Amino acid sequence: MRATMPGMELYRFLQQQGFGSRKECRQLVEYGLVEIDGEPAEDYRQPVAIADIGELVVDGEPWTPLTGHVYLMLNKPDGYETSHKPMHNPSVYSLLPWQFGNLGVSAVGRLDVDTTGLLLFTTDGQFVHALTSPKRHVPKCYEVTLKHPVTDDLVKHLLAGVFLKDDNEKVAADSVAVVDEITIHMTITQGKYHQVKRMLAAAGNRVMELHRLSMGALSLEALDEGQWRFLSETELQAFGFGAKPE
Ligand code: URA
Repeated sequence: MRATMPGMELYRFLQQQGFGSRKECRQLVEYGLVEIDGEPAEDYRQPVAIADIGELVVDGEPWTPLTGHVYLMLNKPDGYETSHKPMHNPSVYSLLPWQFGNLGVSAVGRLDVDTTGLLLFTTDGQFVHALTSPKRHVPKCYEVTLKHPVTDDLVKHLLAGVFLKDDNEKVAADSVAVVDEITIHMTITQGKYHQVKRMLAAAGNRVMELHRLSMGALSLEALDEGQWRFLSETELQAFGFGAKPE
């Protein structure tokens, strides 16, 4: 998304914020659905600058104007597909403001429909690359609930590496911490298809529940299931990114 220039016409600003086509944004103003600082906007051509907007309400909903790229995290619940065109379940995108769809916000990688936890979204292709490129080795930590009790052998096996079908090389966990009899925290740096489930199956156990706790320095912390939030400037800087306008 381009940064909004000072004095941009209101309907174009609304379009840049994801409120729809130019026509739809003109209509929002014409129908009296846009309020700036408590006053209904009357002219869709009126110039606006983000810095001068105290409070923006569109169609009854407050909106914090976006500048530059969008970066956010969701605590994904069970039963949502990481897809714009889900087949059998609701889409993770239905948990985000609809305006983000118009801005091209996309998930950074995928979680399976029954996997819960940290899922990132952005409009920034470079950010997607930085987090998903196999060359970057970004650590991803999962809480894994197992069918059978954890054994020393299982942990050794995961750390030594297992062969996944169709792969010639072993894939190994970076670290495995035993939480309780049937729970481990396992960190991997690759991002292969169904990797955690396949690794556990190859090591003779079975994943019953899978929850992603963190990706690199980013962790869910207090974010409730189904909730999302923007990444902070500090979190972005940990990956060499900033939420500066382009
Ligand atoms: N590994 C899996 O098996 N599934 C996920 O959703 C993520 C990692």
